[in-house]
Amino acid sequence: MSDRQAGFSRFIRMRKSCVAYNLKYTIRKSVVLYKIITYATEQEFTRQHMTNPWKEIRLADYENHMTWHSVMQAQIMNTMMKEQFYQYPVKTIMILGIAGGNGLEHINPDIIEKVFGVDINREYLDECAKRYSQLNGSLSLLQVDLMDDSIVLPIADLVVANLLIEYVGYTCFQKVINQVQPTYVSCAVQINADTSFVSDSPYSNALDNLDSVHHQMSQDKLVEALDSIGYHLILENDVLLPNDKRLLRLDFKRNASKQ
Ligand SMILES: C[S@@+](CC[C@H](N)C(=O)[O-])C[C@H]1O[C@@H](n2cnc3c(N)ncnc32)[C@H](O)[C@@H]1O
Repeated sequence: MSDRQAGFSRFIRMRKSCVAYNLKYTIRKSVVLYKIITYATEQEFTRQHMTNPWKEIRLADYENHMTWHSVMQAQIMNTMMKEQFYQYPVKTIMILGIAGGNGLEHINPDIIEKVFGVDINREYLDECAKRYSQLNGSLSLLQVDLMDDSIVLPIADLVVANLLIEYVGYTCFQKVINQVQPTYVSCAVQINADTSFVSDSPYSNALDNLDSVHHQMSQDKLVEALDSIGYHLILENDVLLPNDKRLLRLDFKRNASKQ
């Protein structure tokens, strides 16, 4: 075989191995891409079809936990809500994650014309309606999953969201505030010092499944999230809780330019 023929056949061999290598590489890339897409689709499917654990927690278990002597959050929240309702000149209030209506006894219909109570759990809202039948004309209870992108909410002067943002996250909360367009937002978030976000009580087992929907809260991130939709911080109040936890109340006002 001449040098020229030998060179040519070497060239053909190299070309064949190049094509084989490219083919193998392309197949491997497609398999990886397929796995990524399948995984993302499965995750989205699980997120959309998973029952929110809040729908399965009995109100009695939640309330017994919150009032337990070493938790005390229901009592503290009750006092805080009275302040939240009357701190600003508002006539309509939306309470997100109203649960059994703790704090509603402070609503004076001569001052507050309308209260919207929002929750994902029907049982909680039914109990609320029973407990506060005297607010009949001014209390509207809405069963809504705030995570659902298709929801439509009424507008209100003040949004109160206590221990709620933890379960819907900042982005969903921004979406809700943009819809309700309140002048004021008053929210309480729990800041944990390296401990579990659920305090211990004989009822805390009932809250075990909340891990799947819980978001760790940070004051800076919440302030940043609301600032980016035109709300600035006007009040900051820290309450120490048992078990190394803090309940942080943050109030925001819509920027004058957006009113
Ligand atoms: C930790 S509890 C707080 C209840 C009350 N605000 C308090 O301070 O005691 C959270 C409440 O938010 C409701 N919730 C959680 N996720 C929700 C969602 N995606 N849409 C509407 N309500 C939700 C729960 O059902 C529950 O009543």
